[in-house]
Parts: sequence; structure tokens; C-alpha cells
Amino acid sequence: MIPRAALLTAVLLGAAAPPPGGASCSGCHGGTGMPLLAGRPAADTVAALDGFRAGTRPATVMSRIAKGFTPTESQAIAAWWAGVAP
Ligand code: HEC
Repeated sequence: MIPRAALLTAVLLGAAAPPPGGASCSGCHGGTGMPLLAGRPAADTVAALDGFRAGTRPATVMSRIAKGFTPTESQAIAAWWAGVAP
């Protein structure tokens, strides 16, 4: 658990800790040649994740990754990434 005080400090500083699973995306999406998630509008990321989960958006790995998160978790992850400076 993150101590409440530390979490509050992070929020006040505008550097909120990522939601569960949120940090796992950067291993693939943080480098060159991959679509960046940082600064991407949350609705855009959510729509992509929904499509991957439903199988309507072509994917190699993202369909499996998206299925690991509920729609609510996906929204939290997308909202967090939207607030990260690209
Ligand atoms: C193992 C590497 C890997 C990880 C980890 C990963 N992705 Fe992806 N992501 C991809 C690949 C590859 C694509 C291209 C579609 C495909 O082939 O599945 C993609 C595509 C996307 C797209 C669509 C981008 C576009 O412009 O079309 C979004 C949004 C996305 N990922 C979000 C996420 C989120 C959110 C996470 C963390 C929960 C995540 N990805 C974790 C590899 C990864």
C-alpha cells in the first residue's frame, strides 16, 4: 500500500501514481516506433482499448492485454495517460 500522505502529496503535486496496470504500458509504448499514450485524449485510448477487447480492432498483442482490464480500469488507465506529458 502507498501511504495516504504520500499519495496525497503526489496528487497535490500533479504527479498522481498510475492506476493498477497503468505503468505496464510504457514498456512497449514509451519508445520510438510505437504510438505514444502520454497526452493522448482519454476517449481515444478508451475507444481503442474497447475495440481491442471486443475484437473489432485488429491487434497482435493488444487484444490480449485489453482483455486483462475491465472497462472501468481501462478508463482509469486512459485518464492517467492523458495527463502525462508526452
Ligand atoms: C507487449 C507490448 C505492449 C504493451 C505492454 C502494451 N501495448 Fe498497446 N499496443 C501494442 C501494439 C503492438 C499495438 C498495435 C496493435 C497490435 O498489434 O496489437 C498497440 C496499440 C495500442 C493502442 C492503439 C494505438 C493506435 O494509435 O492505434 C492503444 C490505445 C494501446 N496500445 C494502449 C495500451 C495500453 C493502455 C497499455 C497498458 C495497459 C498497452 N497498450 C500495453 C503493444 C503493447
